[in-house]
Parts: sequence; C-alpha cells; structure tokens
Amino acid sequence: MNNDIERVLYSRDDISKAAHRLGQQLTEDYKDKKPVVISVLKGAILFTVDVIKEMDVYAELDFIDVSSYHGGTESSGKIDLLHDLSTEISGRNILIIEDIIDTGRTLKYLIDLLKQRNAAEIKVCTLLDKEDGRLIDVKADYIGFAVPNEFVVGYGLDYKELYRNLPYVGVLKPEVYTDK
Ligand code: PRP
Ligand code: MN
Ligand code: MG
Repeated sequence: MNNDIERVLYSRDDISKAAHRLGQQLTEDYKDKKPVVISVLKGAILFTVDVIKEMDVYAELDFIDVSSYHGGTESSGKIDLLHDLSTEISGRNILIIEDIIDTGRTLKYLIDLLKQRNAAEIKVCTLLDKEDGRLIDVKADYIGFAVPNEFVVGYGLDYKELYRNLPYVGVLKPEVYTDK
C-alpha cells in the first residue's frame, strides 16, 4: 500500500503537530460551550480521534456518515446521508470535524441540516482545506493545512475505499488510477 504513494504531503509528525495546535485553540474557544463534536464519516475518523484528545473541555461526540465521492476522485454532486446523528442538536454548540473541504458541497449540506435542526452555533474544523476546489462558498474556522489542488489519500481519505489507514496524507502514483 505504501508503495502506491508518489509523495507524502503531510507526515505523521506534521499531522500530530497540527492536531496539537488546533486542540489548544479549541480548548480555549470551547471552554464554556459544552460542544457536540460531530465527526463526518468516514474520512474524518482518524483526525477526529487525534484532535479530540487534544481538547481539554467537556464535549459530546457524535457521528454522521455522508458520502458523495463514492470512492472516486470526482464529487458526484449528490450527498447521501448514510447514517444520522443520535444527539438532539437544537440549542447546542456544534463543532464539525472534517478531513477535507473540497467543492464545499458536503459541508454546505451539513450546515443546512444542522441549521434546520436549530443548532445554536456551528463551527468547522478541517484537517485539509482545498480552496481551489471550491464550488460553494463555505469556510472552515479551524484549518490544519491549506492543501494544493491534487487528489490526496491517507489518514482517513480514500481512493475507492482504500488508503484510509495510511498514517500520513499523500498523492498516489498516476498508474494507480488506471490499474485498479
Ligand atoms: C469526502 C471528504 C469530505 C468531502 C469533501 O467524503 O471526506 O467529507 O468528500 O468534499 P466536498 O467538499 O467536495 O464535498 P466522501 O464523500 O468521499 O465520503 P467518505 O468520507 O466516506 O470517503
Ligand atoms: Mn467525507
Ligand atoms: Mg471518500
């Protein structure tokens, strides 16, 4: 699997430092907010685990599973809600955790959903922000790295459901897209 990677963009160490930096900021900002931290499956699972451990605040944790890439490199444009939250959102301070914001469609979908459910406040923490990919004007409040406009995998991010378990974020060798 590691052999399919052309180059590493963010190493295990880079990511752990980013999680620590964001965690310190979030600890300060969420001191008195008792947030519901919402991890967006599947991509955000690894980053969520690392960042919440750096947050020294009372926080609830919930999961929502949405998908639009269906394993490929292009957004289908249609968001499927595969698994919903179990927490009552009304009046709560929400912190969405994402692995990447690209077109912005997934985030827009989530923000609209949480607004409909009368969340008190909605903020977003993403490991990667791919601003050049944006089709919808949405922004994250906490960002690990601004990522160039390339298809990246690892640390939660998949290509055809694989590579999520790489401990770093990298770019696949071009031949991988044609072979598999
Ligand atoms: C990916 C990624 C983000 C979203 C970002 O999820 O994890 O959730 O796409 O892209 P966007 O800004 O263009 O909407 P995906 O649909 O691949 O599902 P997954 O997390 O289960 O891999
Ligand atoms: Mn995702
Ligand atoms: Mg995906």
